[in-house]
Amino acid sequence: METREYNTVELDWRNLAFRYLPTNGYVQYDYAEGDWSGPVIKTDPSVSVHVAANCLHYGQACFEGLKAFQQRDGSVALFRPDRNARRLIQSADRICMVSPPETMFIEACEMAVRINREFVPPYGTGASMYVRPLLIGTEPMVGINQSSTYTFIVLVTPVGPYYKEGFRPVEALVVEGYDRAAPLGTGRAKIAGNYAASLKPGLLAKQQGYPIVLYTDPRENKYIDEFGTSNFIAITHDYEFITPDSPSVLEGITKDSLQVLAGEMGMAVKPRPILLDELDQCAEVGACGTAAVITPIYAITKGQQRWTFGRPDEAGENLQRLYRQLQGIQYGEIEDTHHWLVPIELD
Ligand SMILES: Cc1ncc(COP(=O)(O)O)c(C=O)c1O
Repeated sequence: METREYNTVELDWRNLAFRYLPTNGYVQYDYAEGDWSGPVIKTDPSVSVHVAANCLHYGQACFEGLKAFQQRDGSVALFRPDRNARRLIQSADRICMVSPPETMFIEACEMAVRINREFVPPYGTGASMYVRPLLIGTEPMVGINQSSTYTFIVLVTPVGPYYKEGFRPVEALVVEGYDRAAPLGTGRAKIAGNYAASLKPGLLAKQQGYPIVLYTDPRENKYIDEFGTSNFIAITHDYEFITPDSPSVLEGITKDSLQVLAGEMGMAVKPRPILLDELDQCAEVGACGTAAVITPIYAITKGQQRWTFGRPDEAGENLQRLYRQLQGIQYGEIEDTHHWLVPIELD
């Protein structure tokens, strides 16, 4: 097989955390008077905005998260950037922002990876390059209104394999007294405010020893919605792949991809409202998202109730198969029959 080699910076790739590391720079576009500027490469990691910028006071800010993977053949590819582009457009629309068109979004992601190509983790380390597009309203204002000027940024940072010691199950808590979204609110949008709202319940859960929060529906608190920063998936004892169909969850791209793969593995794929009480019927439960792909959930606690799934020290067999299949496609080890990978021209 022909392989390509690029110089990489010296980093301890296998032990990188999920956090920002300095790179060569980021890509920025500005919107004013009905038009987007061309891309500008910025090397100073700070962004200059007006002290009264709308994003700082009124929260016109939305973002995305996707990854670029060095493939087994040495090339580099983005995973489903078209889906992130469309989700950013929807998030922006929900809070009256002007969004970059899909082609500009993808061009920006490619450029941000290209200018930082020596920070793309080498194939085989289990690490990848996290790509963070960000859209902010920049117009100075004191009265609340939508901005007429915007800045679109794409930054990247290399991130390590989530599971350094293997695919370890964790315990989740349903924090009572807090919702992350309102019934007709912004739960479907990837906007900054949703994450601010989830900090307090997240902290309370951590103080009680639970690394992850499970949210129920904000209307009745009876149905499962999603985890703090990932979607809920489960495989039932009847070999059904279920995931909540809810108006207040973020439509995850990992979840969508796993549904396709689960169908190909012969599971009956059923997105539908899921009652908390139905956890009794779940054999394997996972939290899925771009950062970790799948985090196996060993137990879910709500007050005096506690449901457990499989073994505390090992992920269920089906979640393991799904994880391997998706990662195999992402790293170019398994044929990408769905055309999910978008190669990046690095030269
Ligand atoms: C609230 C929330 N739900 C779900 C997800 C998973 O989405 P994706 O698979 O596109 O990363 C994320 C991750 O970004 C998230 O923040």
